[in-house]
Amino acid sequence: MKNIESLINQMTLEEKAALCTGASPWTTTPVERLGIPEMTVSDGPHGVRRLPDVNDIATESYPATCFPTASCLAATWDVDLIHQMGQALAEECIALDVDVILGPGANMKRSPLGGRNFEYFSEDPYLAGQMAASFINGVQSKGVGTSLKHFAANNQEFQRFSINAEVDERSLREIYLPAFEMAVKQAQPWTVMCSYNKLNGTFASEHHYLLSEILKDEWGFEGLVVSDWGAVRDRVAALQGGLDWEMPGPQERRVKALIEAVRCGELDQALLDQAVRRILRIVFKAKETPKGGSFDVGAHHALARQIAAEGMVLLKNNGLLPLKGVQQIAVIGRSAQNAHFQGGGSSHIHPTKVAVPFKELRARAGDAELTYAEGYPTDNSSRLDLIEEAVTLARSADVAVLYIALPAFKESEGYDRKDLDLTDQQVALIKAVAKAQPNTVVVLNNGAPVAMSAWIEEVAAVLESWMMGQAGGEAIADILFGKANPCGKLAETYPLKLADTPAHLNWPGGAGVVRYGEGLFIGYRYYDAKQMPVLFPFGYGLSYTTFAYSNARVSTQNFKDTQGVTVSVDVTNMGKVAGKEIVQVYVHDQKSGLVRPEKELKGFAKVDLQPGETKSVSIQLDLRAFAYYHPEYKQWITEDGDFDILIAASAADIRQSLTVCLESTLRLPCILDKESTVREWMADPRGKAVLGPLYPQVEEQSRKRFGGGDGRYGNESAMGMDIMDMINDMPLVSVLLFQQSALTMPAEELVAGLLSQVHNME
Ligand code: BGC
Repeated sequence: MKNIESLINQMTLEEKAALCTGASPWTTTPVERLGIPEMTVSDGPHGVRRLPDVNDIATESYPATCFPTASCLAATWDVDLIHQMGQALAEECIALDVDVILGPGANMKRSPLGGRNFEYFSEDPYLAGQMAASFINGVQSKGVGTSLKHFAANNQEFQRFSINAEVDERSLREIYLPAFEMAVKQAQPWTVMCSYNKLNGTFASEHHYLLSEILKDEWGFEGLVVSDWGAVRDRVAALQGGLDWEMPGPQERRVKALIEAVRCGELDQALLDQAVRRILRIVFKAKETPKGGSFDVGAHHALARQIAAEGMVLLKNNGLLPLKGVQQIAVIGRSAQNAHFQGGGSSHIHPTKVAVPFKELRARAGDAELTYAEGYPTDNSSRLDLIEEAVTLARSADVAVLYIALPAFKESEGYDRKDLDLTDQQVALIKAVAKAQPNTVVVLNNGAPVAMSAWIEEVAAVLESWMMGQAGGEAIADILFGKANPCGKLAETYPLKLADTPAHLNWPGGAGVVRYGEGLFIGYRYYDAKQMPVLFPFGYGLSYTTFAYSNARVSTQNFKDTQGVTVSVDVTNMGKVAGKEIVQVYVHDQKSGLVRPEKELKGFAKVDLQPGETKSVSIQLDLRAFAYYHPEYKQWITEDGDFDILIAASAADIRQSLTVCLESTLRLPCILDKESTVREWMADPRGKAVLGPLYPQVEEQSRKRFGGGDGRYGNESAMGMDIMDMINDMPLVSVLLFQQSALTMPAEELVAGLLSQVHNME
């Protein structure tokens, strides 16, 4: 590695400023006289989108493997497989002369309507964080960089370039940031990409708290921060906020802005040097991996097929699947011939080849006869003739397999979905075919949940096959014929209807603002809290076998937060075919100082079992599995007490549960102040020590003044009230002000005195 400090000393101000902006849409600015090379980046995330000319943004990219998109990846729940995919992506980057791939995306699925949800992993931060970290570790293990994006609170497409996401600190820390935090701490992505939107009033590209204080200082991010393409408004403010590299380039005006700001003293040269240092480190790191050669197209296609098969989720099966002994199959739906395997936008990959679902079915169908009908057109028109044709075929077959793809005009980067619905034609088609043929299987291709209530009762089976990547057509056929046993589980809840969804009342915002009014409660956290039925819960998925859970145990019943605890359970394959089960561990806090979700995913494992086989699965739970973020302490805290460990097959299918007792080792600073309530005083050990002796007197006076015979609130005992329940939530000073005549000093002075006693105890 070059001596970066000596290079910084030799660079002119102009060269430094130029390095902080791209030379082209995809490259850094080289400095030839000092031997500083250029670095090339390409989209991402589920394939390499390398354009032949880096000065271009619109031409077709080189062929590369199109893997399934993130919804499918997360549904595998298989961190090792995602790691392998990362390695394959890196091999393709090397062959295509790419230093950094722009992905993965770790934003939360706040609403199923998010237009880019197909590019994101989950509604759960833990699962998304594990996926992102494995992806990054896989790519970077081969000496190629990643760009973790879009940081942060970029959860919708509506006004994504400008909207101000209003998110409270606790929701940010517990829901919207942890996937990024996990990925940074466990995998150190070479780059992090800031998002377009504003967060609490400030553009993410200029957000000092986000980019500098949290990402770099608190989490220890060592790489560079790059802007999303076109996310910078004010170059100088962005640099001051912590944004190192602006993209795309070239942008002469921006370079000049930095030069002038340093010259006139508005921008500290040391800050510019800091950004230059971060960029140079990554540029030289990238050059340690020689580029060129080729990649194994066949092996990567096979890996894409394996991932697709592991991520597809069998949602319903009345026993029809896997298909056996069928003579005639009516294959219906355009996407049987035109595979719908990726989404529109910057992630669009030029695949090396594409498996045609119909052909793959044909190849595995033996002697069965296959017929085909288009079923629905590419546009949103209504075509009764196509439905009639499909029904005729379905009626004369043993089985109808309907390939239903959500069209791109309903789902893409750039705009959000307006509803959860398939097209009217598709719904009418499913209903008509199912009526004519009870043995109907629906195979869905989409990147996010669709509503199914209108037809799900009428069909025999439903396979969610996602935007499944270029080999997905093979994976579908493998699953339908039982060559692969479905083993994916949903990484997001499928709601019954749009009005049930967590962000419904605050989506997508307006007048420049979107308020995250549901707070912590997105995904299953919301449906749990509302005790609301859903179509399919988070973590749900069927198999061609069944699994039994037994012998749940913990390494220790009582433990200190710093030690953590290990949970184990035995899982047995009860059926006649090999299969994989995804074991999920959720934690429920029995009692907490602040409101918490009913349960939260804190661990999982995917286990492969032969028929009749039993394996023991162990999952570690660390301090963070029990902690929550306290906005007043401004830190993650643990509290003493009992927690239930729920071992589950889905968020709605808890198989075993255990209770453990945590002892917190935290010594929290005292946060009592002159407005603290009586209850807060008594809940704090130091506050209780000081106020406790006076409390009986405060109570007596309170009952007399508020709940006595002539008290403000009438006669407490006669009316069966509990006046102290009200008093305890009043600021101590307010309570004392009502009792001023019985005090020897002004209430404010008394509280100030008590506070100084408390602070002297620290
Ligand atoms: C997208 C990013 C992408 C970049 C470069 C942006 O519009 O939001 O995800 O990496 O363009 O294509």
